[in-house]
Amino acid sequence: MRIALAADHAGYELKAGIARYLAEKAVAFTDLGCGPNESVDYVDFAAKGAAEVLAGACDRAILVCGTGMGMAVVANKFKGIRATPCWNAYTAEMSRRHNDSNCLTLGGRTTPLAAAVGIVQIWLDTPFEGGRHARRVDKIKELENRNFKP
Ligand code: RB5
Repeated sequence: MRIALAADHAGYELKAGIARYLAEKAVAFTDLGCGPNESVDYVDFAAKGAAEVLAGACDRAILVCGTGMGMAVVANKFKGIRATPCWNAYTAEMSRRHNDSNCLTLGGRTTPLAAAVGIVQIWLDTPFEGGRHARRVDKIKELENRNFKP
């Protein structure tokens, strides 16, 4: 499993901590930025992370902004990405079991590193349950293929 890791300036510190954690746990990752002391637009970094997954270069993405919300909004514009903001163990577990999340979004201004690494570990370890949840995820995929023009 290889993780695409990206953040804006508000998520930079938390991204750095998560990168250290992934390295300690021998989880492969690609750091897509941003770098320190930059002010960037979360939109660009969410797009980089989503594109890395859709290109097959990484299996999943972890995206960090101030709240995790902007990253999720952007990443979910990409067909095939199921981005889930998670803020505790339960939401991390359910995002995998029920939603087959392939993109975890976190808030650098809302979630301390100690909590974030717990969320990351659960999100990495928890399998998708399948069954009725696979039917629902399939419906999401159908919606992605629909033309919403009136
Ligand atoms: C940046 O100030 C902040 O708006 C951004 O990190 C994010 O929280 C947006 O959703």
